[in-house]
Amino acid sequence: MAKLLSLLPFSILLLFSLCSAKPNPNSLKAAHTELTAFGFPVGLLPSNVADYSINHTSGDFSIKLSDQCMLTLPPDNYLATYSKIVRGKIVKNKIAQLDGIRVRALFQWWSITGIRSSGDDLVFEVGMLSAKYPAKNFKESPPCEGLKADS
Ligand SMILES: *[C@@H]1O[C@H](CO)[C@@H](O)[C@H](O)[C@H]1NC(C)=O
Repeated sequence: MAKLLSLLPFSILLLFSLCSAKPNPNSLKAAHTELTAFGFPVGLLPSNVADYSINHTSGDFSIKLSDQCMLTLPPDNYLATYSKIVRGKIVKNKIAQLDGIRVRALFQWWSITGIRSSGDDLVFEVGMLSAKYPAKNFKESPPCEGLKADS
C-alpha cells in the first residue's frame, strides 16, 4: 500500500502532462530531423507537435500533438485529420502500422495505414490501396485548421 501511495504523485504528474500538452518547438524540430533522416518530407506532420519519441531499435514511434488537428493535404485538397497521438513504425523510406491519420475521400474517412517514400514521390497506403503524390507538396509542416469535425 505504501508503495502504491508513493506512485500516486507520479501518476498525477503523468496525467497532468497528458492533459496539458503544448506545442513544443524542440519536439517538432526533433521529429522533423528524424523524418528527414528516414527519407520523408517534414510536411507530413502538422506543426503542433507537443512530444515525440522513437525506439531506434524497433523503429516504433509515437508523436503527441497538442490537440487533434484537421488540415488540407496538397495537391488535391483532401481533408485529413490527425489524432492527438500518431503512432507507427518507421524505417528508411517506409512508415508502417500507422495509426492516427485519416483522410476524407469518396465521401468516406479512410485511415492511412502506411506511407512510402519512392524517389520524388510519396505513396500513401490505405489498406490494400495506395495513391502516389509528388513529395514536393509536403515541404512544410501545415498549420491545423481546426478541431476534428464529427466523423
Ligand atoms: C525497443 O525495441 C526493441 C526491439 O523491439 C525492444 O527489445 C526494446 O525493449 C525497446 N525499447 C524500449 C525502451 O521500449
